[in-house]
Amino acid sequence: MKGFRASKKGASLERVRFDISEISLLARGNGAEVLLQSIEKNKLFYIYPSDNPNAMEFYFILSGEVTCEIDGEKLIFGPQDHFTAQGLTDPIHFTTLSDITFLWVVTEPVFVHVSKEMSSLMDIVKKVEEKDRYTYMHSDRVAEYAVKIAKQMKLDTVQLELITQASYLHDIGKIHIPESVLNKPSRLTDEEFAVIKKHPADGAEMLKGTVYEELCPIIAQHHERLDGRGYPFGLTKNDILLEAKIIAVSDTYDAMTEDRAYRKAFNAQYALDEIRSLVGTHYDKEVVEAFEKVLIEEGKI
Ligand SMILES: [Fe+2]
Ligand SMILES: [Fe+2]
Repeated sequence: MKGFRASKKGASLERVRFDISEISLLARGNGAEVLLQSIEKNKLFYIYPSDNPNAMEFYFILSGEVTCEIDGEKLIFGPQDHFTAQGLTDPIHFTTLSDITFLWVVTEPVFVHVSKEMSSLMDIVKKVEEKDRYTYMHSDRVAEYAVKIAKQMKLDTVQLELITQASYLHDIGKIHIPESVLNKPSRLTDEEFAVIKKHPADGAEMLKGTVYEELCPIIAQHHERLDGRGYPFGLTKNDILLEAKIIAVSDTYDAMTEDRAYRKAFNAQYALDEIRSLVGTHYDKEVVEAFEKVLIEEGKI
């Protein structure tokens, strides 16, 4: 039935195995995740304070026992015991007294940080950035700027997470572009530019069928322009996702403020002025205004 997903024992969307522990992602939606974790006997694990004071973590012990010390008092949790963390100020450390398995529900995505799928995608991103030495760490910087803009625009945590992940992966489709085209110092031919223009849709295609499928439209749209002269679809204004508009501004800013084969980096003020002159044709006004505030707050302009 549409909207319903049944799974049998042992099934998961994705699973990662470490030497002492295994984490399975059972379900995710609207930023929340349900995870199943097993940890061996006599191991330590931590619950860390979240950046978001509203984020909630809930643990329900299915089997085994675990202990921790809270305000000088030693607590032991066993099967069917549960505990919740929200607004923690200090990390809590736990010691497993036996092999344990617990259900772990979080209102913010955590699995991405341990996911093998994400790390194999990030390996491709690294390869892309190595192909072109001028884009070293490009996706990290794009993510940094995009998140700052998104926070300035007061977007919710679900959007923040989408923007972070999509920023990291936005140029993944460039893996299919030959190095000779990517690094060509002279003007590209129409054929070569046609190859470049494929990378947003190729990137989206690479994420189809993975747990990051919801990033596909954002990645596909990161070179669209408000006036419809972007690629690959030629979308206009409100047909372009806000997340893609934010990444577009971050992407251009990073390209301008880093050295290139044919020119030195521009300073922050020059890059922002250039972007501002393209508000309404290329870039979204609110996004650029939010970015300007970020740069002022950081003393960069
Ligand atoms: Fe791109
Ligand atoms: Fe990019």
